[in-house]
Amino acid sequence: MTAVVRTVAFAGIEVLPVEVQVAIGNGLPSFTIVGLPDKAVAESRERVRAALTAIGLGLPPKRITINLAPADVQKEGSHFDLPIALGVLTAMGVVPLDEISGYVALGELGLDGSIAPVAGVLPAAIAANADERGLICPGPQGGEAAWAGSTGVLAPRTLLELINHFKGGGGVLAPPTPAAIPEAPNSPDLKDIKGQETAKRALEIAAAGGHNILMMGPPGSGKSMLAQRLPGLLPPMTAEESLQVSMIHSVAGHLAGGSIVRHRPFRDPHHSASMAALVGGGLRARPGEISLAHRGVLFLDELPEFNRQVLEALRQPLETGKAVVARANTHATYPARFQLVAAMNPCRCGYLSDPQLACSKAPKCAEDYQSKISGPMFDRIDLHIDVPAVDPLDMSAPPPKETSAVVAGRVAKAREIQIARYKAEGAAITCNAEADGELLEKVAGPDAEGRALLTQAAEKMRLSARGYHRILRVARTIADLEGAANVKRVHIAEALSYRRVMPGRGLN
Ligand SMILES: Nc1ncnc2c1ncn2[C@@H]1O[C@H](COP(=O)(O)OP(=O)(O)O)[C@@H](O)[C@H]1O
Ligand SMILES: [Mg+2]
Repeated sequence: MTAVVRTVAFAGIEVLPVEVQVAIGNGLPSFTIVGLPDKAVAESRERVRAALTAIGLGLPPKRITINLAPADVQKEGSHFDLPIALGVLTAMGVVPLDEISGYVALGELGLDGSIAPVAGVLPAAIAANADERGLICPGPQGGEAAWAGSTGVLAPRTLLELINHFKGGGGVLAPPTPAAIPEAPNSPDLKDIKGQETAKRALEIAAAGGHNILMMGPPGSGKSMLAQRLPGLLPPMTAEESLQVSMIHSVAGHLAGGSIVRHRPFRDPHHSASMAALVGGGLRARPGEISLAHRGVLFLDELPEFNRQVLEALRQPLETGKAVVARANTHATYPARFQLVAAMNPCRCGYLSDPQLACSKAPKCAEDYQSKISGPMFDRIDLHIDVPAVDPLDMSAPPPKETSAVVAGRVAKAREIQIARYKAEGAAITCNAEADGELLEKVAGPDAEGRALLTQAAEKMRLSARGYHRILRVARTIADLEGAANVKRVHIAEALSYRRVMPGRGLN
């Protein structure tokens, strides 16, 4: 007898339908899986065999062939256990075929017949829903699947529970309810930071226009503190953004507690992170840190300490908002539109600007240290600021009054202006950081005085075309924060101040 159970494979966060076809025929007893399975899928065999034995059924002493169709789609991961087991059970006549055909199933089996959580339940549930099918997923992930508003979700904890459900004519397993959204994480507030007015202003501009920002300064000046406060300044995610971010986190197996992600992610990978950890991929296709930071903030502390190759690999995602991960015979694409906050010491010891603390190799050591970051990488960062050591007078002063909420209010207004502007222009972007070339010239063309200043500065600083556009982009955001319709000289002047002299490399 043959049976078919539907399941899925993932290509990035895209869901591809896969059929598990099971044929039980006469011949020498065997159990074979075909159809481009990877190692984890091949291991399914042993888990399915053990799980069926554990619930007292055991495999029939016949020739069992499992085909995962279509054969040209790479099947990765352990979530094929449950559909394979269900296929075998259906072919054995234990589970009725007409009941199972209305479902998409995924889950990993334990040797004792328990069903363990797997990655990708949320996108699978959404795909099943679109196909007007129910979803069978691991018990602990019922809350995650229910978010898709599925037509019917079954979340059994064990294989036996599922069999009993079907044997009992259905209705034995209660449909799960969507997991509650956790309270907003106690995000740190901007008012904890004393002094550093320039840096705070730059952070506000970064938030308002979605610009990448690089902070350079000695250790302990508050760079990490500033970076952690950026998500609190950004506008809340829309429902659509929230769903997309949740799908990425689900495919990565990171969706904690089965709830969707409502708050902008903040990811701060260590500088020893590998290419696979940061960009994605590896032995099993998984989104990397830059995709987990999608629609949120990626904080790279000690930027020059990162592996140079890894940093260079960030250039393309920074431009396209996508991470492309090579696989054996194909590639997977994950969304990766994040806001980069980078921090670095000016030199290895960190005290370049302080003659009392600086080491004997200054300033040569700073040149060497900073040259670890390539020009094209610097080029993709709109705002460059210095974060000097905190003034002792500022430290002993009472804390500043302005909270993150107040700044976020101004940011939200500036964002609304940008959304309206780009909608009117018919551009598929929502913030100034994504504007470029002709569009930028059109929406951020400065008045005559501003133009004169910009031309003069471009000549003096030997600005590249890219550098020129960067100034315009930042100036546009500064004008938006003010609610000014046109970019004026003051906006250009302030934007010019967020450029920095690179030792040995002239103005960047
Ligand atoms: N501007 C500041 N206002 C208040 N505390 C500060 C400030 N800058 C630094 N600190 C204190 O110093 C510690 C280290 O700051 P951190 O942000 O980690 O510095 P950096 O990342 O620049 O090395 C913080 O935990 C905080 O206690
Ligand atoms: Mg730090």
